[in-house]
Amino acid sequence: MSEPQDLVVFSRDGEIGIITINNPPVNALSPGVPEGIAAGVATFNADPAIQAIVVIGGGRTFIAGADIKEFGKITSGQKSAAIGLVDVCLQIEDSAKPVIMAIHGTALGGGLETAMAGHYRVAVASAQVGQPEVKLGIIPGAAGTQRLPRLAGLPVALDMCVYGAPISASAALDCGILDDVIMGDLLQGAIDFARDKAGLPFSKVRDRQDKLTDAGAIAAARAKLEKRGRALLAETRAIDAIEAATQLSFADGCAKEAEYFKECLFSNQSKGMIHSFFGERAVAKIPDLAKDTPVLPVKSVAVIGAGTMGGGIAMVYANAGFPVLLKESTPEALERGLATIRKNYANTVQKGRLTEAEMEQRLGRITGTLTYDGFDAVDLITEAVFENMALKQQIFAEIDAVARPGCILASNTSTLDIDAIASATKRPEWVIGTHFFSPANVMRLLEVVRGARTLPTVQATAMALAKQLKKTGVMVGNCFGFVGNRMFGPYRREAELLVQEGATPQQVDAALYNFGMAMGPLATGDLAGLDVGWRVRQENPAHFAGVRQPVIEDRLVEAGRYGQKTGQGWYTYDASRRPQEDAFVTNLIQEVRKQNGIVPRAISAEETVTRTIYALINEGAHILAEGFALRSVDIDMIYVMGYGFPAWRGGPMFYADTVGLAKVVEKMKSFGWTPAPLLVQLATEGRRFTDWSRPL
Ligand code: 3HC
Ligand code: NAI
Repeated sequence: MSEPQDLVVFSRDGEIGIITINNPPVNALSPGVPEGIAAGVATFNADPAIQAIVVIGGGRTFIAGADIKEFGKITSGQKSAAIGLVDVCLQIEDSAKPVIMAIHGTALGGGLETAMAGHYRVAVASAQVGQPEVKLGIIPGAAGTQRLPRLAGLPVALDMCVYGAPISASAALDCGILDDVIMGDLLQGAIDFARDKAGLPFSKVRDRQDKLTDAGAIAAARAKLEKRGRALLAETRAIDAIEAATQLSFADGCAKEAEYFKECLFSNQSKGMIHSFFGERAVAKIPDLAKDTPVLPVKSVAVIGAGTMGGGIAMVYANAGFPVLLKESTPEALERGLATIRKNYANTVQKGRLTEAEMEQRLGRITGTLTYDGFDAVDLITEAVFENMALKQQIFAEIDAVARPGCILASNTSTLDIDAIASATKRPEWVIGTHFFSPANVMRLLEVVRGARTLPTVQATAMALAKQLKKTGVMVGNCFGFVGNRMFGPYRREAELLVQEGATPQQVDAALYNFGMAMGPLATGDLAGLDVGWRVRQENPAHFAGVRQPVIEDRLVEAGRYGQKTGQGWYTYDASRRPQEDAFVTNLIQEVRKQNGIVPRAISAEETVTRTIYALINEGAHILAEGFALRSVDIDMIYVMGYGFPAWRGGPMFYADTVGLAKVVEKMKSFGWTPAPLLVQLATEGRRFTDWSRPL
């Protein structure tokens, strides 16, 4: 913990005053930092020997923004020592001596707002600047919506504030956010720049009006957001606040921004997104895994099975720079797998997201094979063959015989017992589940499944590997379906029951889509393949005993309707893969209702959402109590990263907290369900999942 006087340090180089921010790891504007910058500006203004001031970040970055931890304190009524950054920015801007902001790493949110209060901004070529507040469900709150359009123009400001993506130094130079890009040492370049400007007149961003005149930009931004659909409060308010910059004085515009900022900050959307921001980082910390657990070097890998998942996983490794051996069982299957990989890369090239040369480089890292030759040299082997225990055990026995000691043996199984798979080897300590999500090269989630005997070092290596692969690894225990799929079962079953009882597939999917899910549950089934769930039900009848079965879905599969892969499932798909209503399904639904004596009734969107989402929550509560998820936030992140649950609702368990657990329990009882004991306990005690941890 830094002493307050260490957070911001003043020094000088001749007539140039230097203010250095030292608040690792990312120089967030925690209490003491804004005050320190303001004090530095005041100190150097009072010093007649100083002619210009440079503000720079110590360590790896400029300023990553306001301290997000303070927001939680503010909204939960706790004491926050954060002061208004708006006033600090005014003090910087009112400096009688020019202030030059020297940027490396990222200037984000309040960091860019602080930078825009300076009179000049210079940056290294690798720097990025952005207003990502919208990703936390808020809008810029320190005049970002007022200064950015004055500096960069309305279209750029709207894009940056509404969508939150950072821009590169060269783009920032082009649109006027930066005044120069420094090629050599940043501090020296900024000092030289400051010397050039010392004594010359300079202006304040807040006094500029020349870039606020693009009348059509606001309407265009609204239309673009409308077209995308499902706008969040912060996205809409970001446009409103920038519009205020075009209509009001700077001071009144700031007041409007403050009003919208507060509205967003206290919204559940913002609470959910801030929970997701910290959640994504929290899951990397495994409480029972010592911080100094050795991480083994993984430099080369092999993948077995070049189907949907194996092919995608091979791409993930190749994208991260690993040489990959990709093994199949027949030349035809191998050729098919490699062709799919080639096609997927070619599509990315066509979309302009990859160059031809990059594609060739990545393809060059993947070597197809039909034998285990070379498997003795790799550091990790990922198995992705059919979901069948006997086959997986056979494969693990084979790789146990060829892999070198210390090689990690990973399975991509989505439901099977990792310990049973490991038992086929003489080294169960080296076996772990790495459960990728489809499409593996797109989805960010990686469930890391530890078995009863998996070594800590193997666990730590798998988590570190996730990061290397640009995935979010979440550690889970070895239960049927692990965390994600175990919860997905009851969720999707409930979706079908709603159809049996009277809803149409479209109504069910629309209700969940409107709730914020990336896709409705039935359309998701079609995408993943209805045969996958069917096979699981066939192979594990004991697991589903006593539970009402999704008979319509079984009948769809038995009719050869596997979903998108066969062009027909719950819906029929045209060439553009748009789902369309299908008479076969409508008739089948009527038939099943008749056979089961169900008189269809009107089902509301509210009932649809509560029954499906509460089914997720109830199973999540069981999983938590049984210890297969470490914390409720792990479940939340699995759903946000792997199942299209809206980040702005924070994940299913956080969502339950926002509804109130007592209400959730009451509703479940009204459905005739038995709520999970942990859920009942927390509801009775007036507590939340988020604050609960398993007693040791
Ligand atoms: N406030 C508090 N903590 C922050 C933070 C912030 N703004 N930004 C990052 N951190 C913390 C992270 O939680 C993490 O903590 P941990 O080590 O305990 O898990 C640590 O700093 C390092 O962060 P990352 O692991 O994310 O480091 P990376 O190097 O991968 O990424 C980054 C760096 C790009 C800066 C990334 O952290 C990031 O995107 N941060 C958030 C940026 C942001 O949203 N800024 C806007 C804040 S809101 C605001 O400014 C409102 C204003 O308008 C008033
Ligand atoms: P798939 O059927 O598309 O591919 C399996 C591949 O394994 C086939 O290409 C087959 O030829 C190959 N194979 C079979 N025996 C082999 C052997 N002895 N040696 C080498 N290759 C062999 O199956 P998919 O969907 O890729 O699933 C693979 C695994 O991933 C399964 O365990 C599944 O549960 C899991 N999974 C699937 C997801 C999905 O959405 N499809 C998502 C996450 C996990």
